[in-house]
Amino acid sequence: MSEPIPAVVLGGTGYVAGELLRLLAGHPRLQVRAVMSDSQPGEALAGAFPHLASVYGDACFQSQEAVRALLTREPRCAVFSAAPHGVSAQLIDTLLGAAAQAGTAPRVVDISADFRFRSAEDYERVYRHPHGAPGRLAEFTCAVPEHLTDLTTAHVAHPGCFATAVLLASVPLLGRGLLEPQLFVAGVTGSTGSGRKPTSGTHHPLRHSDLYAYSALAHRHAPEIAACARAASGVAAEFAFVPHSGPFARGIHVTVQARLRRPLETAELLGVLRESYAGSRFVRVLDSPPRIKDVTASNYAHLGAVSDGRTVAVMCAIDNLTKGAAGGAVQWMNRMFGLPESEGLAAPAPGWT
Ligand SMILES: NC(=O)c1ccc[n+]([C@@H]2O[C@H](COP(=O)([O-])OP(=O)(O)OC[C@H]3O[C@@H](n4cnc5c(N)ncnc54)[C@H](OP(=O)(O)O)[C@@H]3O)[C@@H](O)[C@H]2O)c1
Repeated sequence: MSEPIPAVVLGGTGYVAGELLRLLAGHPRLQVRAVMSDSQPGEALAGAFPHLASVYGDACFQSQEAVRALLTREPRCAVFSAAPHGVSAQLIDTLLGAAAQAGTAPRVVDISADFRFRSAEDYERVYRHPHGAPGRLAEFTCAVPEHLTDLTTAHVAHPGCFATAVLLASVPLLGRGLLEPQLFVAGVTGSTGSGRKPTSGTHHPLRHSDLYAYSALAHRHAPEIAACARAASGVAAEFAFVPHSGPFARGIHVTVQARLRRPLETAELLGVLRESYAGSRFVRVLDSPPRIKDVTASNYAHLGAVSDGRTVAVMCAIDNLTKGAAGGAVQWMNRMFGLPESEGLAAPAPGWT
C-alpha cells in the first residue's frame, strides 16, 4: 500500500477550499492534514461546510503557525492555496521560506491570481497593488494541464475559471495558426464564482432569475488569459472579453468567436479539437452545444464548435469550482506527485443539480 501524501488547504473557509475538501475526501493518496483559516482557527470544519461533516467529523481549522509547523516536519506536502489574490503570495512565501529553512520541499498549486503573470509589473498594472512575493514568480508556471506536457517549475499557478474555459476553447486553434489573433469572448458564470462573502453586486438573490454583463472589455482576467494563451500557443492574441452573471450557483459557459485564416468546415474544426485533446481524460469534444448541467460538480470540460467557413464559434462548459479551480488544482497536484492525472477526479457530473 502506498504512503499517503499530506495535503494542506489555505483560505480554509472559502468556496474553493470547500470544493478542495470535497474532492480530497475521495482521493486515494492525497490526505488532508491541515486546513488553514485566518478567521476561524479552532472552529469546526463542519461549521463552514455542513455537507462535509460526515467525512471530516470533528476536524478543526488550523492557524498559520500550526500549518507552518506541519510543513517544516513533513518532507513533502501538497499545498493548495485558495486564499484571495493579494493575500496568497505573501502567505505562500512565508510558508515556503519556513519549509526551505527546515529542509522540506512542499509543492504548491496557487488557485488565486497571484502567480499567473510572469512579472510583478504586469501583476501590479492589473491589480493595482505591489506583488506580495515577486522573488517567487519564477518558481510558478501558469497553464491548464492539458496544454503543458513538461512542468519545469516547482509550483503551479492555476489560470482560473473563466481562463480555463477560454484557453481550452482557443489554444489548439491558435497554436495551429487557424485563427486571426483577435478573439471575441462572451462568458457566463454562476454565483459561486464570486466567493462566499455576499456583496451588493454578487449576492445570489440579486443574481438569480437574472442575466447581465459586467466589466465588459475591462475584466482583470482578460490580460491573464492573453498571457496564458501566448505561453501555450506561441501566438500573441487579443481577447475581447465580456463576462456575464448567470442565474445559477455553479458552472461557466463561454463562447469564443474568431475569424478563420483559411476556410474550415465544422467537421474539420471538430476534428482538430478532437485530435488536440485525444489524450486528455477530462476534455470531451461534442457534436452538439455543451451544457453546464452535464459538467457541474465534475472535472470535465465539454467543448462544441461550429464554423460557417469564415468565422468559428467554440463553446466550452466547465464547473467553475471544480475544473475551473479545485479540480484543476488536484489534477496538477496529481501530476506533480507522479500520480495518475485523473486520481480522485474521474467521477461524472450528477446531471441534476
Ligand atoms: N470561486 C471560484 O469559482 C474561483 C475560481 C477560480 C479561482 N478562484 C480563486 O480562488 C480563491 C478562493 O476563491 P473563493 O471563491 O473560495 O473565495 P472566498 O469564498 O471568498 O474564500 C476565500 C477565503 O480566503 C481566506 N482569506 C484569507 N485572508 C483573507 C482576506 N484578507 N480577505 C478575505 N479572505 C481571506 C478566507 O478564509 P479564512 O478566513 O478561513 O482563511 C476566505 O474564506 C480566490 O483567489 C479566487 O480568485 C475562485
